[in-house]
Amino acid sequence: MKGCHEKRVCVTGTTGYIGSWLVRLLLQQGYHVHATARDPEKASRMLSTLEGTNRLKIFRADLNEDRSFDEAVKSCVGLFHVAASMEFGTSVQENIEDHVRRNILEPAVRGTQNLLQSCVRSGTVKRVVFTSSISTITAKDETGDWKPVVDESCVTPANLVWKTKNSGWVYVLSKLSTEEEAFKFAKENGIDLVSIIPPTVAGPFLIPTVPSSLQVLLSPITGNPKFYPILVSVQSRLGSIALVHVEDICRAHVFLFETSEASGRYLCSVGSCTIPQIVDVLSSEFPNFISKRFEEEFNRSAPSVISSEQLLDLGYRFKYDVKDVIKESIQSCIRNGLLDN
Ligand SMILES: NC(=O)c1ccc[n+]([C@@H]2O[C@H](COP(=O)([O-])OP(=O)(O)OC[C@H]3O[C@@H](n4cnc5c(N)ncnc54)[C@H](OP(=O)(O)O)[C@@H]3O)[C@@H](O)[C@H]2O)c1
Repeated sequence: MKGCHEKRVCVTGTTGYIGSWLVRLLLQQGYHVHATARDPEKASRMLSTLEGTNRLKIFRADLNEDRSFDEAVKSCVGLFHVAASMEFGTSVQENIEDHVRRNILEPAVRGTQNLLQSCVRSGTVKRVVFTSSISTITAKDETGDWKPVVDESCVTPANLVWKTKNSGWVYVLSKLSTEEEAFKFAKENGIDLVSIIPPTVAGPFLIPTVPSSLQVLLSPITGNPKFYPILVSVQSRLGSIALVHVEDICRAHVFLFETSEASGRYLCSVGSCTIPQIVDVLSSEFPNFISKRFEEEFNRSAPSVISSEQLLDLGYRFKYDVKDVIKESIQSCIRNGLLDN
C-alpha cells in the first residue's frame, strides 16, 4: 500500500511466464520477494540471475498441500496469487464431467483455500492480488448477440461452458471456480482481495520455453494444431483477441497492490485485434513468415470493444500498444532461437 514501509511480498507461480516477470519487476522496485514454486531448483535457475536477488527468497510450496504456503507468506504484507493449473482440456473419454470436477476443479478450489488460509494464519498479509483470466469473460449476450462494450461484468456463464465444451473449457471452468472461491473466502475471512483479468499476455519472457500464450498468439504462423483452436475459440467468444504486454500486466499487478482504493475485478487489456489483423501485423513486420494455418474465415473488424476503463479510471497507464506486443513476441522467439526468421 502507498506509504507503507514494509515491502515484503509473496508471489506464487514463479516458474511461470507472468510469475517470473513479476518477481523481476518487484525486485527492480525494491520489494523483498518470497517466490514460491513446486520445484525450487527450477525457480532458482531462472530467478537467480535477476538484479536484487539479495532481497529474494525461494520457497517450495504446492497448492495441493495443506499449510504448504505458511512459511512463504509469513511476514509478508502482500500476496500475488499467479499460479494456476494450466490444463486446457482432458484426454479422458468416459465420465468426463465427473473426472474434471473431481480431479481438476475440486483440487483447484481446495488449493485456493489452502493458500488463503495461510494468509489468514500469517496475520500480516494486508492485500491479495488474484490473477484471473479473460477466459472468464464473454462478449456475447444471452441471445448470442455481440455486446458493443465488454467489461468486468460480462462473466462467462459456467453452465454454458459445461454445455459447449469449447476448446480450453477445462481451464475456463477452473479460473471461474477458483476466482469465485477466492472472493468468497476473502469475504468470509476479512481478506482484502482484488483480482486482475489478463487477456492474452505476450512479449518477452524469462522462462526457457515459449509461454503457452505466445504459442496461442503466434499459432497462425506456426500452425501449431494444439494452440490454433484456442485462438479461434477466444476469437469466437470475444470477437477479437485482446492483448497486453507482459511488463504492463506485471506493472498492473503491482499498481493494484499499491492502490488502496482498488476493489473487485479489473480487466487489463491495451486493445484487441481480430485474427486477420494479427496476420496483417505479422506479415508486414516479418515478411519471411508465411501463414501456415489460416483456414477459417473471420470478420476483419471486431464486433465489441474490450474495455479497461475501470483500471484506467483508477490511474493506471499502459506502456505498450498492441503492435508492440505482437512485434516483441516474435522478436523474443527469434532471439531465443525458438523461431527461425
Ligand atoms: N499468459 C496469459 O496469457 C494469461 C492470460 C490470462 C490469465 N493468465 C493467468 O496468469 C497466471 C499465470 O499464467 P502463465 O501464463 O504465467 O502460466 P504458466 O507459465 O503456465 O505458469 C503457471 C504457474 O503455475 C504453477 N502451478 C501450477 N499448478 C500449481 C500447483 N498445484 N501449485 C503451485 N504452483 C502451481 C506452475 O508451476 P510449475 O512450473 O511447477 O508447473 C507455474 O509456475 C495463471 O493464473 C493464468 O490463468 C495468463
